[in-house]
Amino acid sequence: MQKLVIDGGKMLKGELKTQGAKNAVLPVLAAAALCDGKVRLSNCPSISDRYGAIRILTRLGARVTGGAGSELTVDCSGLAEFPEIDDNLMRTMRSSIIFMGAALGRRGRCTLCYPGGCDLGPRPIDMHISALKKMGAVINDEHGRIECYAPDGLSGCKISLSFPSVGATENIMLAAVTAKGETVISNPAREPEIGCLADFLRSCGAHIKGDGGGRIVIEGVEELSQPEGEVFSIIPDRVAAATYLSAVICAGGELMLTDCQPSHMEAVIPVFEAMGAYIRCFKSNIYIQSTGRPRSCDTIRTMVYPGFPTDAQAVIMSALTCSVGTTVFVENIFESRYRHAAALCRMGADIRAEGKVAVVTGVPELYGASCEAPDLRGGAAIVCAALGAQGRTEILRTEYIDRGYESIEKALSSLGADIYRV
Ligand code: UD1
Repeated sequence: MQKLVIDGGKMLKGELKTQGAKNAVLPVLAAAALCDGKVRLSNCPSISDRYGAIRILTRLGARVTGGAGSELTVDCSGLAEFPEIDDNLMRTMRSSIIFMGAALGRRGRCTLCYPGGCDLGPRPIDMHISALKKMGAVINDEHGRIECYAPDGLSGCKISLSFPSVGATENIMLAAVTAKGETVISNPAREPEIGCLADFLRSCGAHIKGDGGGRIVIEGVEELSQPEGEVFSIIPDRVAAATYLSAVICAGGELMLTDCQPSHMEAVIPVFEAMGAYIRCFKSNIYIQSTGRPRSCDTIRTMVYPGFPTDAQAVIMSALTCSVGTTVFVENIFESRYRHAAALCRMGADIRAEGKVAVVTGVPELYGASCEAPDLRGGAAIVCAALGAQGRTEILRTEYIDRGYESIEKALSSLGADIYRV
């Protein structure tokens, strides 16, 4: 079993390139299953979830080349006629569920099971299922095995989401791009990763309008393929960017984060400013400088985009553990997303979490401790806290962190942190 060992107290200084977005590359890889011929992608992050998606594609008959580099080529010409996804592969990550819409769109059928992923409380897929049924899919769920087929092909229709779910919006988009007729999604998710998926699908010939707004309209086309010579670039990871900015607040120092998209972080950057950090945004760079204890903030409520992202809640909480004053967090997206609070308290933080609310009262300093990453972002939050803590922190269950961060220890040690993996 691997662990990260961090000796806290070293200021960070330097420049870091932002990795490609985990939550964008996964749906784009699923979308590649809809395409005839080769799809070339760039800026793909080297994270374990990417390899999970590649294993699914390969098992379905795709050829994927590119190894660990940021460029990947996916050829789904030989995609299985009856796509079936192994339970073990489904359970490795939440976004395995979006292969349902892609496989249904491409082959009119698929068999899979309920997806895994981080334990953030109940994560039902009822909206995915009812939308695909409305589009003509017959879906039988027996003993957790989900069998889907579309006897007459998928047809466009009007779908109104009761909540703008990211995964449900992606699944519907994937199913709709080659369905017969028009699909209208009302109240879709507006996250930048939805825009990235729409851009990729459009670049392959899909007709999609309205992504980023309150209504997405998709007119089905016969088939999709990426034009010869094109390479589609994955957007930068706004959560990884928020993580490294939080790391600077925890450890102190300065960082120029390059190749990021500040316009995707408009709900997060003001929080760093409120903490007292000096922060400057450029077209695709963010500079941050911070020393001493940050200030506490007004209540931070997680919301769907463009609100404050739930995925940044844990790392920002770490940044506030040593603040002067008290900050209240309200988690509105997931039921159980404060599992990092126990580890932070073990390091000396004062956090009271109950239900949707967590109250963080700043303490003068944290102390290293032995902890387990409770989930992906919770694990990253412990790494950030450990950078500023006195003494040594050891973090087990690094596999959670590796799901979404490209070699976090290399990134942070390049900035002067004392962090290594054993
Ligand atoms: C995606 C992101 C995740 C992020 C989340 C919210 C990926 C791979 N993951 O997850 O990092 O934290 O968006 O921004 O992109 N829900 C239902 N029924 C459904 C679908 C969702 O009740 O059919 C509920 C969920 O339980 C949750 C809320 O809706 O409470 C948000 O979920 P959703 O937006 O679907 O998140 P994911 O796509 O799972």
